[in-house]
Order: sequence, then structure tokens, then C-alpha cells
Amino acid sequence: MEPYSHDTVRAAGPFQIFQFGTVHSTNTLALERLQSMDVPEFTVFLADRQTEGRGRQGKHWDSPKAAGVWMSIVVHPYLPLSVASQLTLVTAIAVRRGLAHLTGSSPNIKWPNDIFYGNRKVCGILTETTVREKQVKSAVIGIGVNVNILPNEFPSYLQKTSTSLLAVTGKEWDRDRVADAILKEFADCYRQFLTERSFAKFRQEWETFNHTLGKTVQVNYNHAQISGVATGIDPDGCLIIQKNDGETIRIHSGELQMLTSS
Ligand code: BTN
Repeated sequence: MEPYSHDTVRAAGPFQIFQFGTVHSTNTLALERLQSMDVPEFTVFLADRQTEGRGRQGKHWDSPKAAGVWMSIVVHPYLPLSVASQLTLVTAIAVRRGLAHLTGSSPNIKWPNDIFYGNRKVCGILTETTVREKQVKSAVIGIGVNVNILPNEFPSYLQKTSTSLLAVTGKEWDRDRVADAILKEFADCYRQFLTERSFAKFRQEWETFNHTLGKTVQVNYNHAQISGVATGIDPDGCLIIQKNDGETIRIHSGELQMLTSS
């Protein structure tokens, strides 16, 4: 049994938020609990600090104490595996809406699920699932937002690519308010997504606030690196890329590198 116990628990809309001091990773904690007990839908694990915060593709996620929102939401969507990646796209829309409404700023979404201000990342999303009979039984949606971090406080390897709400808006933010603003939007987006079982209704909003379309990108595709211009997103949330040789391909998931920032 993992050794962590929460400091406080509070309700926010449909969510039960379990607040911890230091944990290894809120995603790992949620996955461990799912293995050993019933975790109701809309349970949130929120930590002050993570010692082993995890990003996509096995990367470390820097999670300093009292400086960000490091949280994982547990849901039980019972969706076909093929639809599960859309849950992350929908979460990105919820985070974008939450940050925009709270701060009055206008962040953008980099496909599939990073939130950017200009060319710098303020938030990453890591969705991990448990699967039963080809359905997503549970999803742990990990959200990391850099909140009160000054530009020179980022580790040097992040200084050119990361930003925070403090850096963008010039003021400190209450981290609970940031979490609650995101969770409120997530509840709406998730319910709509479950009802429609489709990304289609979110597509236009995603396109309006995207950080990807029209840019030259590089991505792993069929075990090769391909590059081309990102031209659109389809109703299933796949990114459409026009390769330099004119061929059009659809990418279901993957890590994009931006080759142009214009
Ligand atoms: C990424 O952009 O690579 C995804 C980053 C996800 C970070 C969050 S912080 C809360 C949750 N717990 C983790 O260990 N990771 C996610």
C-alpha cells in the first residue's frame, strides 16, 4: 500500500478533492488506488509537490512545492478504446476555458493536449487508462499547470520552452481557484462528451484556439519521422498533415515537434 494520506478533503461541484502535501505522482497515486479500492468518479488527487511527476513519453514533469496545480481526475467513462484519446483533447479544451475565464488571458492548444501561451507551455495533460473488454473502464487524467513560477525559477532545460500564469499575467494566483476553474469546465465538457460520445462538437472550438494548424510539424508515423504542414483536425480528433510530397495523413496520437512557429 502506498504510504500517502491526504491532509484535507473538500467538495467542488461533483468533485471530491483529496489534497496531499508531497506525493510521488498524483497519477501514480490514483492508479495505485484504483488497483486496491473503489475510487468514485470525479475523485481528484491534488498535491502541493510531486517528487516523481510524470509527463508524456516517460518524461519527468517538474512539480515544485506550492508552485502549480498538480492534480489527477478519476473518471469511469466505459468508452471504446478508439474514442479514449479524444478524452484528452476534450480535457485540453476544458483547461483552456478554465484558464481563459479565470485570468482573462487567451491560451492556445497544441495538438494533442498541451496548453501554450505564445510558444511556451503552461500546462500538460497525461491521460492513463485501465481497460476491460476493449472499453476504457477508468481514466486518470493528470493535469499539470505552472502557476506561481517566475521565469528564472524554471530549471534551465525548461527556461526557453515553459511559462506560468504568474509570468503571463504578472500576478500570483491562488492555486485552489485555478484548480476549481479547470474542474468546473471539465465537468461540463466531460458530460457533453459522454452524452455525444464524440469530439465533433468540440472541433470548432479546438480549431479556433489551436497552436498547431498552418505550421510545419514533425511527428513519428509508422516508425518513421515525417514532416509536413498541419492542415486540420478531423471529427475524431486526428491531426491532418499534408506531407511535403503532397500525401495527406491522419495522426491519431503522438508527440509533435514544431518546425516553424509562424
Ligand atoms: C506532459 O505534458 O508531458 C504531461 C504532463 C502531466 C503532468 C501532470 S501533473 C499531475 C499529474 N501527475 C503526474 O505525475 N503527471 C500529471
